[in-house]
Amino acid sequence: MENFIFRAPTHMYFGKGQIKHLPEILKEYGKNVLLAYGGGSIKKNGIYDKVLEVLSDFNIIEFSGIEPNPRIGTVRRGAEICRQNKIDVILAVGGGSTIDCSKVIGAATFYEGDAWDLVKDSSKIGKVLPIVTILTISATGSEMNKGAVISNPETNEKLGTSSVNMYPKASILDPEYTYTLPAIQTSAGTADIMSHVIENYFKKTEGAFLQDKISEGILKTCIKYCPIALKEPKNYEARSNLMWASSLALNGLCGSGKEGSWSCHPIEHELSAFYDITHGVGLAIITPRWMRYILSDKTVDKFACYAINVWEFENEEDKFALAKKGIDATEKFFKDCGIPMNLGKLGIDDLLLEKMSNAAVAHRNLKNAYVPLDAKDVYNILKMCL
Ligand code: NZQ
Ligand code: ZN
Repeated sequence: MENFIFRAPTHMYFGKGQIKHLPEILKEYGKNVLLAYGGGSIKKNGIYDKVLEVLSDFNIIEFSGIEPNPRIGTVRRGAEICRQNKIDVILAVGGGSTIDCSKVIGAATFYEGDAWDLVKDSSKIGKVLPIVTILTISATGSEMNKGAVISNPETNEKLGTSSVNMYPKASILDPEYTYTLPAIQTSAGTADIMSHVIENYFKKTEGAFLQDKISEGILKTCIKYCPIALKEPKNYEARSNLMWASSLALNGLCGSGKEGSWSCHPIEHELSAFYDITHGVGLAIITPRWMRYILSDKTVDKFACYAINVWEFENEEDKFALAKKGIDATEKFFKDCGIPMNLGKLGIDDLLLEKMSNAAVAHRNLKNAYVPLDAKDVYNILKMCL
């Protein structure tokens, strides 16, 4: 296991009715609240009304219309509103897109230059407005981490940035708020949670046994509960387990002490940069193809371990056969969850594969991945996804 510093400063308010704590949480930071949200799902399912009801003593300025795969233009507009209205705290109500956008708005509010600088170079992030979140989809882990991913449609870039100053101060996780999710978002969110774990499970560092056991537990939780949530959207047990899995998958628990770059996320970020697709759908398509591509004498033991400990296959002598069973099970799971498992089904052909492959390698250090990847490898993996 490598050395690491683990931080988890976000106060997590988990469970039914935890929104009652919102006034006491926000009071600490001031009266002027930017209420940030997306395309309106919170108005349809009643969360918006509930927020206004509990915040009757606060001065609320609304900032709506944050799009999935949030854009830098939206960040710029949000920061301007924060400056004009002397905002004290941002309340992000939604999923990863709303939370990520709010984090960078919070940073851009105090930054003299253009907000895109903060995405390109995280060292430029200084002071950040306090961020409080109300999570409505189990997926990214943004509710408990310091990262944010922002798109620039003008340059076809979708890049991650991070700062310890962007950790949410507090997050409210009420599983009932996820009851209204469209089925595809439940599935895509679960695929994202699983990918965050898988990216860290398959790393070069050996001997991080505990992290691997936590990872296997999170994966098994997703495998058990996503189908239940799809069948019974109001099943509290399923929704609560998925919601906590979202936060634990990407708060450092699984990744700390393990070295190396991720593989599937850098590839997916190019797909959503060029085609604006749903992040989790892209990951579900890429992950099993990437697994097949990197399966070799060097990696087979880890894949066999994955097949046994995550998918509960019996041990057998033929390690490759076992590894393939685990990979097949991964692909079948996503398919059974209703995710379209080919890029063609999303209207993506081979036109931009080369461009995206070069960009993936340029944006991330894929040489340092579990199995090093160059642009040709990324191209081959994307080709398998068509
Ligand atoms: O915009 P509204 O109307 O709210 O609708 C959203 C959106 O259309 C809808 N939705 C969310 N909660 C709902 C709901 N609809 C009904 N009922 C509810 N309770 O779901 C759609 C997707 O929302 P979004 O916020 O985009 O989803 P997600 O949480 O998956 O976020 C994806 C973004 O996060 C980035 C992704 O790249 C993508 O841009 N990521 C952020 C990370 C981080 N900060 O750590 C890590 C991830 O790997 C990821 O890259
Ligand atoms: Zn992700």
